[in-house]
Amino acid sequence: MSRHILLTGGSGFIGSNLVRFILRHRPDYRVTNLDCLTYSGNPENLADVEKDGRYRFVHGNILDRPLLDTLAKECDSVLHLAAESHVDRSILDSRPFVETNVMGTQNILDAWRHAKGKAGRFVHVSTDEVYGSLPLERPELKFTEETPIQANSPYAASKASSDLLARAYHHTFGMDILITRCSNNFGPYQFPEKVIPLFVTNLVEGKKVPLYGDGRNVRDWLHVDDHGEAILTVLEKGTGGEVYNIGGNNERSNLELTHSILKAMGKGSEMIQPVADRLGHDRRYAIDATKIERELGWKPTRSAWPGALDATVKWYVDNPKWWQRVKSGAYREYYKQQYGNR
Ligand code: NAD
Ligand code: TYD
Repeated sequence: MSRHILLTGGSGFIGSNLVRFILRHRPDYRVTNLDCLTYSGNPENLADVEKDGRYRFVHGNILDRPLLDTLAKECDSVLHLAAESHVDRSILDSRPFVETNVMGTQNILDAWRHAKGKAGRFVHVSTDEVYGSLPLERPELKFTEETPIQANSPYAASKASSDLLARAYHHTFGMDILITRCSNNFGPYQFPEKVIPLFVTNLVEGKKVPLYGDGRNVRDWLHVDDHGEAILTVLEKGTGGEVYNIGGNNERSNLELTHSILKAMGKGSEMIQPVADRLGHDRRYAIDATKIERELGWKPTRSAWPGALDATVKWYVDNPKWWQRVKSGAYREYYKQQYGNR
């Protein structure tokens, strides 16, 4: 079946990997990437597919209702990823998180409902962070789709609000909406404020790596292409109104992660700089992905450590031009050069 997907946030980390994944693995699909290019949106992430006739970039905001009305008429499915995504930024200023994640999601849901009614599949990409935190002392506990929503950070609260709006639009209007809740992603093109690219690029620059608190916080790491394949699986095979957890069964403490990165780069533990803990820092995330595995037949195939982590570390080491332009801000010029003032 051919599809024309409206993918929001396609110039960010997961979105750009997903655009590339779709173009590579679904020859019948077209993708329109709607992205307003915040600090984390970087069109250089997709420089290699810009000329692909099945790809179109639209520079715009999910808060722009007339634009969404037009795009909703042109496309037949939505993968909604656009968001403010960094917990530490949400602690400093939560307003953009409410504007984009809550109001932006409400806006695109309304536009889609107006254009499609009950037809037109809409996948809302949520996060495992909506579930809150698990205790380190109970390793047998994992988040299931039935775990209550107990978002802790302003980021997670804004994602939980959008997640619940998506759920409500299915329940109230009968829209064909599905929700995914995924664990932490790793892979190429991640903005170097997130822990893996920040640590690798700091080490290349000869700087230490700032480890929050006691370093015992646990995250469940999934390769970004496993996430992309899961999102496509949900789009193609999922049941409307359902929530699907996505995870790698790959729990690591931040200390373990840091030592793995140091080892991959031939550096010693003297490069660790313990720093003050993040406010409200969630202790542990762990996903039970049984439902998507059993019902839709998805399984992670690219996330096994140490190989997958080492390959990601190598990508950043081998691509200094990409992240140096991001860290210096030079990447902001690329759009102007490519697209002028459009
Ligand atoms: P990112 O910050 O790298 O990318 C977000 C993209 O959205 C950027 O290109 C940005 O320009 C765009 N954007 C932001 N506000 C917009 C707006 N108002 N209108 C249009 N575009 C806008 O984030 P990411 O890590 O790629 O995350 C993508 C999605 O996946 C988010 O919804 C996030 O909550 C979710 N998620 C991320 C992870 C993870 O580990 N990174 C895990 C689970 C779920
Ligand atoms: P991050 O990549 O920000 O993802 P999230 O907060 O969505 O899980 O952080 C991953 C983990 O790494 C988290 O427990 C916080 C920790 N961390 C550090 O120890 N130092 C850092 O500089 C950063 C950015 C994160």
